[in-house]
Amino acid sequence: MVETKLFKYEPSDSDMLSAVGAILRDGGIAGIPTETVYGLAANAFDGKAVAKIFKAKGRPQDNPLIVHISDISQLDSVVSHIPPSAYALAEKFWPGPLSIIMPKGERIPNEVSCGLDTVAVRMPSHPGARDIISAAGVPLAAPSANLSGSPSPTTAQHVIDDMWGRADAIVDGGMCDVGVESTVVSLVGKKPRLLRPGGVSLEQLESVLGEVEVDSAVLAELEPGQKAASPGMKYKHYSPKARVIIIKGSFDNYRRFVMGKKDCAALCFDGEGDKLDIPFIEIGREHDSTAQAHLIFDVLRKLDEMGVDTAYARCPDTDGVGLAVINRLLRAAAFTVLDVDGAMLIGLTGATGSGKSTVAKMLCEKYGFAHIDCDKIAREITADGSPVLSQLAQAFGEDIIRDDMSLDRALLASRAFACEQATKLLNSITHPIITSKALAKVKDFTLEGKTAVLLDAAAIFESKIDKLCSFTAVVSAPEEVRKARIIERDLITAEKAEERIRAQLSDGEYERNADVIIANFPPHNIETEIQKLIQKYEEKRQ
Ligand code: TXA
Ligand code: MG
Repeated sequence: MVETKLFKYEPSDSDMLSAVGAILRDGGIAGIPTETVYGLAANAFDGKAVAKIFKAKGRPQDNPLIVHISDISQLDSVVSHIPPSAYALAEKFWPGPLSIIMPKGERIPNEVSCGLDTVAVRMPSHPGARDIISAAGVPLAAPSANLSGSPSPTTAQHVIDDMWGRADAIVDGGMCDVGVESTVVSLVGKKPRLLRPGGVSLEQLESVLGEVEVDSAVLAELEPGQKAASPGMKYKHYSPKARVIIIKGSFDNYRRFVMGKKDCAALCFDGEGDKLDIPFIEIGREHDSTAQAHLIFDVLRKLDEMGVDTAYARCPDTDGVGLAVINRLLRAAAFTVLDVDGAMLIGLTGATGSGKSTVAKMLCEKYGFAHIDCDKIAREITADGSPVLSQLAQAFGEDIIRDDMSLDRALLASRAFACEQATKLLNSITHPIITSKALAKVKDFTLEGKTAVLLDAAAIFESKIDKLCSFTAVVSAPEEVRKARIIERDLITAEKAEERIRAQLSDGEYERNADVIIANFPPHNIETEIQKLIQKYEEKRQ
């Protein structure tokens, strides 16, 4: 723990500026306001001071920092070469929310650049940031002042929440204007390249530079093993504790989707919340990307105060500053995007022996529903040679992969189900992949003209795949009936059957969580029972 001094920024307060300037010159670290987000600053020429930033944030060691200057004359001390296009950009957008990557100067220590031969530089426009850089008398290296992985801080309170006892000083300069971090553009390759969208839009950059390439990591998840042009893009980011799911589509379909859902909140546009029956936070007017950028991180932090399990976010526009908003939201949502204008997702589950597969088959044959077997996807992604295997090996030990590269499922299971934490780790690796594969299939079915897709998973509630569904149905039968069925079907002993049944949720738990219960045992008529699901489907479509 360090003692954190709190200051308030007033332009004329020279005592405050000299105190903070001295802290920085002496190798301390300070949370400072900028127009984008708050930064956690240190003397950019002092490797030891910069190392403290990494420690305070818990930041991965390979993620370089942006160097902040208050005057263009400082640029020479930071970079080894200034490309002409950098001057053009600086003229138009500095001071402001633009970081330019250039060849690194000699005085920049490895702690800042993390082994790269380039450095990102920006001149912030917030008067507090500029006054503090001037008072320190040196360029300041500063990442966003949040704990690594959390939403970036846009108020002094956010910085206090994350950095109290970790930073030597925090300067309150009010709420950040822009609200998302600076645009990062690289000028070191053949063509200028947008690595991170921010307050300066792609369209604005192109007005100065001509064509700008957009790095693939801006809107899509990196493939396992793919190298990130901007190291920061590969990490889980901006995540509130709640799971965020982005919902694409019309407001009407969004409303129908979220109606009646439990333990969740809506992240919606101004004026929409009152039309919903779940708790909500509004993130600015629809199509007003500037307002949404201003609020996005504050809203993500507020979600945690609400303590909900899931947040359903309306999908922002992707042009102008909207590209920065969707970029941050996609990361907060771990890239989960559900299109409610497409086919409706209906969760289908049931304990072993309940007859879930029979019901799925009937729904597909009679009603033209499509079917996705999540348990099958789970097996596929862990098949021999799958890239997921190396992630599993990293988490659970290299020996879970046999010499012939196949997965030792029994050994993995013995480790992954040994304790709750291990199971969570397994799920954190496999569930996002299963989800994205399933959602890709839904897209295909929508294109084929399907209007309903059964998302069939035995562990639908444990895996939280139910959160993607408009509603869920459970096929149920008493334990004795199920036991008899699986003994007959799989030719196993009564003990084995009981063991399998015990490994799953109890009937009561399935039924408590599901919206529709399909009783699949005498004297119930399965045709009549299935009608309950059809009825719910019709109801949700209205
Ligand atoms: O608005 C901002 O840029 C804020 C305020 C404080 O200025 N700072 C900020 O820093 O967002 P940080 O560290 O959270 O994000 C810096 C991003 C990271 O994604 C990092 O990987 C990338 O910039 N970056 C920094 N130097 C780089 C370099 N030489 N090459 C490629 N990417 C770089
Ligand atoms: Mg950051």
